[in-house]
Amino acid sequence: MADQSVFPSVDALPHDTRALVLGHPVGHSLSPLMQDAWLDRAGLNGRYAALDVAADDLADTIAALRKRAGDGALAGFNVTVPHKEAVLDHLDSLSPSARQMGAVNTVRIQDGRLAGFNTDGIGFMRHLDQTVPHWPVTRPPLVLGAGGAARAVVSSLIAREVPFVMLSNRTREKAEALAAALGRGRVTVVDWEDRSAALAGAGLCVNTTALGMAGQPPLALDLGPAPADMVVYDIVYKPLHTPLLQAAAARGLATVDGLGMLAGQGAAAFELWFGVRPVYDAALKARLMEALGERD
Ligand code: ATR
Repeated sequence: MADQSVFPSVDALPHDTRALVLGHPVGHSLSPLMQDAWLDRAGLNGRYAALDVAADDLADTIAALRKRAGDGALAGFNVTVPHKEAVLDHLDSLSPSARQMGAVNTVRIQDGRLAGFNTDGIGFMRHLDQTVPHWPVTRPPLVLGAGGAARAVVSSLIAREVPFVMLSNRTREKAEALAAALGRGRVTVVDWEDRSAALAGAGLCVNTTALGMAGQPPLALDLGPAPADMVVYDIVYKPLHTPLLQAAAARGLATVDGLGMLAGQGAAAFELWFGVRPVYDAALKARLMEALGERD
């Protein structure tokens, strides 16, 4: 677990709080460790805090943050489960990606106004481009899952030059709803039972489901049909080397882990708040992995 303090209310936050994360529960968040490291490296005074906010307290909390931002120290906040959709009602403006996703993970406070962004898709794509710069973009990716994370992943993929996106989810209706909301004809729904066969033509396979996470069953996927240059990306980061990534590596496929996506969305938020793009390097990865109790 990350070494951090979780605060119960805006009044309890330290005076040098520059940014924070709102969630419930929020004690497991790696964001304070990561953002504090970047604040230190950038020579910015102050800290990043975690605030535990129950759904019923979201409106009052945001009103209190808005008031507090008047003194200038607070640059903004991250929003995590379960507030990413509900927070939209309390903001003054939305970026195009936040509007498209109907979800906000980053809020910037400027001149008393709250602007909502969604950096999950940016984090996903930057980490993919950095880890496997020549991933096969000319063949369709297969995305597994249809929750909030899938939404960010699919919309960032269709913004690229992939021919179309294949989407497969245990509950087919949810995949169809996501395809209709985002696809503009560029998302094809694949039956959950057909997910392994669909790998035959894929350039990338992304797991956005909870499967493979500590305490969950592994994702059942036969990588046999996958082309030799297909990339496997698992957004689960606990464990970092999920059974899916282990199976992919054993077949010689390129793999991308979920910790870099987490860092990427955080780095994009930091840049929105402070105007500096922070670096996710081996030292920071090692600290995050230590906090997770993971080994490389
Ligand atoms: P997030 O916002 O992190 O994406 P979510 O909205 O809870 O989380 O979505 C979880 C995803 O994991 C869903 O696609 C879910 O499939 P359903 O829509 O059918 O529920 C998927 N998922 C969770 N447990 C699963 C399981 N045992 N088998 C297959 N898919 C599972």
